[in-house]
Amino acid sequence: RLVSMTDMLQKGLKGHYAVGQFNINNLEWTQAVLQAAQEEKSPVILGVSEGAGKYMGGFKVVAAMVDALMETMDITVPVALHLDHGSSLEKCREAIDAGFSSVMIDNSKFPIDENIQATKSVVEYAHQKGASVEAEVGSVGGTEDGVTGGVQYADAQECKRMVDEAGIDALAAALGSVHGNYVGEPKLGFDEMKEISELTGAPLVLHGGSGIPTHQIEKAIQYGHTKINVNTELQQVWTAKVREVLANDADVYDPRKVIGPGKEEIVKTTKAKMQEFGSSNQA
Ligand code: G3H
Ligand code: ZN
Repeated sequence: RLVSMTDMLQKGLKGHYAVGQFNINNLEWTQAVLQAAQEEKSPVILGVSEGAGKYMGGFKVVAAMVDALMETMDITVPVALHLDHGSSLEKCREAIDAGFSSVMIDNSKFPIDENIQATKSVVEYAHQKGASVEAEVGSVGGTEDGVTGGVQYADAQECKRMVDEAGIDALAAALGSVHGNYVGEPKLGFDEMKEISELTGAPLVLHGGSGIPTHQIEKAIQYGHTKINVNTELQQVWTAKVREVLANDADVYDPRKVIGPGKEEIVKTTKAKMQEFGSSNQA
């Protein structure tokens, strides 16, 4: 039932729109993102970090949950289940063996030769199983899963080598975006973006998609971004709603009444992102 990202990203590249990767954390989160995609008639990528995978009981539980939901919810739009920021070949294999249709191998902390070599082994394994691979060049800054890092811009020639030598399906070229909240306006390197997109011809991935103003999102799509990752914003709208419910009702204790309303916020925000990214009605 799940598909890899390859087709959806190639279509996005031709049609000048981006497919959202929305990170999931639990059952309700997954239901919300799938519902949004179906209602928007949009392809969608469900992002699962290693931390979130562990939290949900492991990759097998996640894959089984997504599969069952797609069946019971009658999901007909293309859905990819993607390991976000995979840390090793072993983790990528584990996700693919569990049923994930796509992985990111994040070797961005290593020198480029090592990064390319390690990515290549992931591509060999993934492609033989029909799964797609995303790799990172340069370094996305900010904080994710409690890990904080600085921004390092991707080098165009290194990007070209990664695409040609490793044979990846999507390239996360770090160009000033950060995970978590931005301090002031994001400063994306649009000149470098244009250069990397033209040089590699690869679908580009924008990490740290939360909190980027629409005009910058539009420009990033125009310059080859076909995948935009959103995590923090969904967490924020969910938590704000749950906080409101608890603040307004000191007697509530049914978990469905506490977290159920948060789900509606995820649906709303995800649908708005799909419209903004242009992926609505593309499925
Ligand atoms: O890999 C996931 C993302 O890059 C999400 O970034 O939490 O800033 O939306 P974000
Ligand atoms: Zn990321």
